[in-house]
Amino acid sequence: MSSDAFAVEHGLDPEKMPRHVAIIMDGNGRWAKKRMLNRVRGHEQGADVVREVVRTCRRLGISVLTLFAFSTENWGRPKAEVGALMHLLRRFLASEEAEMIRTNIRFNTIGQDEMLPREVREAVNLVKDRTCGNDGMTLNLALSYGAREEITRMARQIAEAAAAGRLSPDAVTDAAVEERLYTRGMPDPDILIRTSGEMRISNFLLWQIAYAELFFPPTLWPDFSAAELMGILKAYQRRDRRFGRVN
Ligand code: IPE
Ligand code: IPE
Ligand code: MG
Repeated sequence: MSSDAFAVEHGLDPEKMPRHVAIIMDGNGRWAKKRMLNRVRGHEQGADVVREVVRTCRRLGISVLTLFAFSTENWGRPKAEVGALMHLLRRFLASEEAEMIRTNIRFNTIGQDEMLPREVREAVNLVKDRTCGNDGMTLNLALSYGAREEITRMARQIAEAAAAGRLSPDAVTDAAVEERLYTRGMPDPDILIRTSGEMRISNFLLWQIAYAELFFPPTLWPDFSAAELMGILKAYQRRDRRFGRVN
């Protein structure tokens, strides 16, 4: 089925689909706590939802899906939890690689690759290499990602180019900034969703979400679903995006 037909079947207008959807997947720990389970069980359950959401966005023909999986600040969590998350990540890559290849998804990461444990970095690079020619959808996993780190890294690169005489001050434009962000070449998110009812951005994509439509569903991430995503997409299509202008 074409992505337009799939959208129509779910009550969506194919003309008004977002190009880029970004999600802060929050609430795994609270989901587990409510069930008197270890937080890690929440992360495991959350991984199943990732699969469902990736599949749905792909079928809808969305170009970019960015998922916040691990922040620069999350390194401050207990060692056992960080270890479990890294383990889960490798498991996810191993189990999803074949489907990503089959469904033409390009796997990419944004964030400090160099901070990841070697086995994780290797697994990540392998799947990136194996899917680099795919153009159906880009799946960006934000891993050891922090928007402030991304922005300071960009500023450092600009300063280096300027100091070397390769960039003049008037060449420091929006485009020059964007070229040096992890998301270079990608459209800005049209939609930012944060699950679990928290209404904060927690250092995610600060530059890129300038005009994103924000959604804060109370659902904890392990309870999130394709159906709820469809509901958010419908609400998005009813919003009036003015970008500072008048209609
Ligand atoms: C989101 O769930 C996953 C990560 C940050 C890795 P949390 O682990 O933050 O869950 P809560 O916010 O404690 O419920
Ligand atoms: C944001 O969630 C990071 C991810 C979902 C990966 P956190 O749970 O880490 O954010 P805070 O601590 O509630 O701001
Ligand atoms: Mg949280």
